[in-house]
Amino acid sequence: MAGYFQAACVVFFAPGLALFRPLFLRVKQFALLALKILTGLRDHDYFSHAANLSLMLKPPSSRNEYNPCLHIDSVMIMKKAVFMPIGIVSNNVKAPRFGDFADEESEIVIDEKFADGLKDIETYSHIIVVYWMDRVKGYVTQHRPQGNPEVPVVGIFSCRCPQRPNPIAISTVKLLRREGNKLRVKGLDVIDGTPVLDIKPYWPQYDFVADGKIPAWVNKLKF
Ligand SMILES: C[S@@+](CC[C@H](N)C(=O)[O-])C[C@H]1O[C@@H](n2cnc3c(N)ncnc32)[C@H](O)[C@@H]1O
Repeated sequence: MAGYFQAACVVFFAPGLALFRPLFLRVKQFALLALKILTGLRDHDYFSHAANLSLMLKPPSSRNEYNPCLHIDSVMIMKKAVFMPIGIVSNNVKAPRFGDFADEESEIVIDEKFADGLKDIETYSHIIVVYWMDRVKGYVTQHRPQGNPEVPVVGIFSCRCPQRPNPIAISTVKLLRREGNKLRVKGLDVIDGTPVLDIKPYWPQYDFVADGKIPAWVNKLKF
């Protein structure tokens, strides 16, 4: 009985929903524009209200879909981003520490479902590992790197310290070898069990800067 009811729903309601979707989207756009004009909200408030409204107006069926960005009036509003780890690091580093990673060897185990994405990775000497520092607790907006008294307090975006609003890190490391879905690398500055978000080959065309300038205090840190 329930099966018949479901089939009837699909037959009668689905075409109707598809038909009214463009109209629904127009109404949504109009409502957002009206909200902006009528309330005269500051841009930031407008954006967050508009994002909430947009979410409310979404058809129930698509509310849970993976949609980190909402496009409203050609403005991209980042509400939240959901990352899916592509792999995990296995090594002998069991706790955070400052520096001394240059000779550390790690194995990056890539999820089997992404393993074919590694095709030809071994043709590179170095890769860039993008990872999530999952054991960072909270963030700061300013920070004295490594707590070193010889180093000034700087903005968190002016240093490479872990306590960031989004604890994302990148490391350019030597690729020693690949065995199936496992990458053996040297110099990765992560703790055992760290989730990996992405792997990119090192391309000097993108990643090398011949005339890079850095403040002198950076050389006082441990690497
Ligand atoms: C200073 S951050 C820099 C990371 C990267 N090279 C960058 O520039 O984005 C590296 C430090 O993060 C810490 N770390 C590594 N993996 C972590 C994790 N999963 N959770 C918290 N801290 C981590 C380590 O102690 C390491 O010294």
